Amino acid sequence: LAGPDGHVTRYGLEWLVKNSYEGQKQQVMHPRILWNAEIYHQAHVPSVDCRSFLETDEGLKEFLQNFLLYGIAFVENVAPTKEDTEILAERISLIRETIYGRMWYFTSDFSRGDTAYTKLALDRHTDTTYFQEPCGIQVFHCLRHEGTGGRTLLVDGFYAAEQVLRQAPHHFELLSKVPLKHEYVENVGACHNHMIGVGPVLNVYPWNNELYLIRYNNYDRGVINTVPHDVVRRWYAAHRALTTELRRPQNELWVKLKPGK
Ligand SMILES: [Fe+2]
Repeated sequence: LAGPDGHVTRYGLEWLVKNSYEGQKQQVMHPRILWNAEIYHQAHVPSVDCRSFLETDEGLKEFLQNFLLYGIAFVENVAPTKEDTEILAERISLIRETIYGRMWYFTSDFSRGDTAYTKLALDRHTDTTYFQEPCGIQVFHCLRHEGTGGRTLLVDGFYAAEQVLRQAPHHFELLSKVPLKHEYVENVGACHNHMIGVGPVLNVYPWNNELYLIRYNNYDRGVINTVPHDVVRRWYAAHRALTTELRRPQNELWVKLKPGK
């Protein structure tokens, strides 16, 4: 290929095939498997052993493939300490510094006046909705547990959103268009923070409508004063449709984290 200044660039056939415009319309940025409880169970996605995860490329690759496809992945046989959990997290990426620090313990003592620090069962939600860019990966490790309860509920929000898109595309569209505020205010001890994140519940790429991020947190949602009243009414109907999908028992994956997992 010759440029106007006479500069010549050569492209290999392999590169041209790889970057061809053919089929670009169907291409997605993030291939993923949408799941409900049955789909996930039937896929028999194995947990990755901690040693293989830390010491081999195959172990890391298996973990990352699971994570990218399903949005969740498990490592087992981890030493149940914060330090060992940190080594694990650093195998994937840099750890992001937040208002909570890099790594932190939490238990049911309501220490930061937040719902996460209670014994209450929480409804499904995504975290850090009040960050301008919510966290992409969260790592949980149960270091110690006595007694009953302590189960973790996982729901694939992308699967739920897909159901809404199929049944009521106008609801999906509204949830992807109306911007909301999610807020976090704390004034406990030395922690004085007021965080606000703005964005829609369903974040889609404008060129292909592909969903890439969900902000769904009924505990942290602020007042909706970003759109006119009649839109707010329709937004609540759309939000209810998504909530109905998120709350279907067949979409619930219950797991029990334990020391080492
Ligand atoms: Fe949470």
